[in-house]
Amino acid sequence: MATVVPETPSFGEWFLGLFSHGTLIVSSVYFHIQVWIEILLGRVPRSDLREEAFSRFWTFFTTRPAPDPTSPPPPPTGSATLAPSLFAQASGVVLDLGPGNGAQMPLLAKAAPAIREVYAAEPCVRLHTQLAAKAREHGLGEKYNILPCSASPESLIQTLAKEGLLTGNADQGIFDTIICCRVLCSVPDLEETVRGLYRLLRPGGKLLVCEHVQSPWSKAKGGSFLSRTMQHVYMFLGWKYLIGDCELLRETDKVLLEIAEEEEEEEEDVTGWKTPDLKLHFAWSTLPYVSGVLVKKD
Ligand SMILES: C[S@@+](CC[C@H](N)C(=O)[O-])C[C@H]1O[C@@H](n2cnc3c(N)ncnc32)[C@H](O)[C@@H]1O
Repeated sequence: MATVVPETPSFGEWFLGLFSHGTLIVSSVYFHIQVWIEILLGRVPRSDLREEAFSRFWTFFTTRPAPDPTSPPPPPTGSATLAPSLFAQASGVVLDLGPGNGAQMPLLAKAAPAIREVYAAEPCVRLHTQLAAKAREHGLGEKYNILPCSASPESLIQTLAKEGLLTGNADQGIFDTIICCRVLCSVPDLEETVRGLYRLLRPGGKLLVCEHVQSPWSKAKGGSFLSRTMQHVYMFLGWKYLIGDCELLRETDKVLLEIAEEEEEEEEDVTGWKTPDLKLHFAWSTLPYVSGVLVKKD
């Protein structure tokens, strides 16, 4: 399991944090209603409801204008403080999982000199135009290849094969870096996906992790009974349906560490993580994050 980073939020920060993620539910409901109206008017096919509503919600969430565009942007807070040092470590051939509309592109672009090629697996096709534009805007256009697939092994492997990436020594892994930033919460089968990603990583390759997880119940583990309760309340209120299949109660850190150990037992030459070093941040909140770099043994 991840090591808890000790933090003591102020009472106000903790209390407001219990309810602040409810605004995401409210805005997603708003976009679902908006798309439903367009379905009834015949402008959007019924089958596109969830993807259309999610892409509008995510675009709104990630591109809200700064309150005062003339003043410098406020310093990052919450999970935004974790991503920069992770993305800075991307190098070689990179798999960027679920990059959305490219909100993290400025961070990835900073590592551009060390990056050879990026393959971005984004199943929400409606976000692809924005994603490609962001890649061009930040000078990654030539290196940035968008794949319309999920992180699930059957979808990802088929698409990588079509791209011609699974030739030669592909069974030794093909990526030097895999980025998992706020995406493993949404994949349908976490264990299978992590197993697939582990195999796609080259020996010595890095898995960059920034993922929200379930809150520990107990204060002794840095968690909070009420924050965990609110995670259950949000799930009950339809969080998973409304926020693009996102689950709040996953133990992603545990799965990331356990799958590598299983692989270690099965394979003779490829073995576990060299540095199983994940940290749990904001354990007291309704959205605790594990972050860190897992390096595959070579
Ligand atoms: C919360 S957004 C995060 C976007 C981006 N990684 C970031 O941090 O700004 C989750 C993204 O994962 C994508 N996603 C959902 N299910 C996925 C899956 N099974 N495989 C790959 N990506 C997925 C969504 O379409 C969405 O773009």
